[in-house]
Amino acid sequence: MKVLSGIQPSGKLHIGNYFGMMQEMISRMESSELYVFIVDLHALTSVHDRDRLATGTLEAAADFLALGLDPDKCIFWVQSDVPEVCELTWVLSTLAPMGLIERCHSYKDKVAKGIMPSHGLFSYPVLMAADILLYQADRVPVGKDQKQHLEVARDLAQKFNNEFGETFTVPEPAISETTAIVPGLDGQKMSKSYGNTIPIFMEGKELKKRVMAIETDATPVEDPKDPANCNLFKLMKLFATPARMEEIHGLYVNGGAAYGYLKLELLELINDKFADARKKKAEFLADPAELRAILAKGGQKAREKAVVTLDLVRDRVGL
Ligand code: ADP
Ligand code: NA
Repeated sequence: MKVLSGIQPSGKLHIGNYFGMMQEMISRMESSELYVFIVDLHALTSVHDRDRLATGTLEAAADFLALGLDPDKCIFWVQSDVPEVCELTWVLSTLAPMGLIERCHSYKDKVAKGIMPSHGLFSYPVLMAADILLYQADRVPVGKDQKQHLEVARDLAQKFNNEFGETFTVPEPAISETTAIVPGLDGQKMSKSYGNTIPIFMEGKELKKRVMAIETDATPVEDPKDPANCNLFKLMKLFATPARMEEIHGLYVNGGAAYGYLKLELLELINDKFADARKKKAEFLADPAELRAILAKGGQKAREKAVVTLDLVRDRVGL
């Protein structure tokens, strides 16, 4: 089973990324042929700052490694180190119906948030399809926000196979029910572009400020509250043990849940969960040459896989 997923190096990785995708990928290291990559070509649709993109890429690599990804047990690389993906993007884009791409929400959402409406931003789903199909991935663990893009990849794989003969594996999404959408401080989807995140590697006072800023309602402590509509409750559930969550659930429905105390408890749980990774991240960042070497080696492994598919594609279409 080939499992693939990528992450943008466009900002500080947050716990939505962690629970929606990274944790799942790291847990599959032993059981799957795993492909993990940093999608710098995608990030270029929103980051036009040389240093930010380059530093962000190294930082995203350090994040993954610090959280436990073992580069010897997967293929871990930077998207742009395999230029074959751009050629496949072109071939797929000649098959992609305008209507299919126009229906994708994320372009409109991003433009509404002030990102420049470029052709690259519009055709982002085609590049993402090429990312997935180039490696013949069977499964793609993503958050729910990426479901539509995955459908584009499936459509394009089927269309190519119908038109030119069996070439691509049609990928399946793997969306975990519990972590499909991690809410942000304001209850919307946690996202770098909404400024409502809890970054995985934030610490100290800064982190405390974020956690205390989780929006809650004004119900008095002693009154019953609805856990299903509370983003603090949803966030606690990601970190606390099932037994503790049962107690907290009781406090919500029977009265007695004090948001301030629960936030402090959450803060401690976050600090405990990532303490080890924080130490490791600092070590990785202290040696950027080693990070680059790990990524270069991964890039070579990825490229060996990519050329096999691209040769087949060229042959199928007559290039
Ligand atoms: P962002 O939306 O913050 O820009 P990315 O687009 O880089 O994050 O997403 C990287 C991965 O993390 C994708 O698989 C995406 O589905 C997942 N992800 C992002 N935000 C969330 C969230 N709030 N809940 C669950 N998964 C998420
Ligand atoms: Na996203």
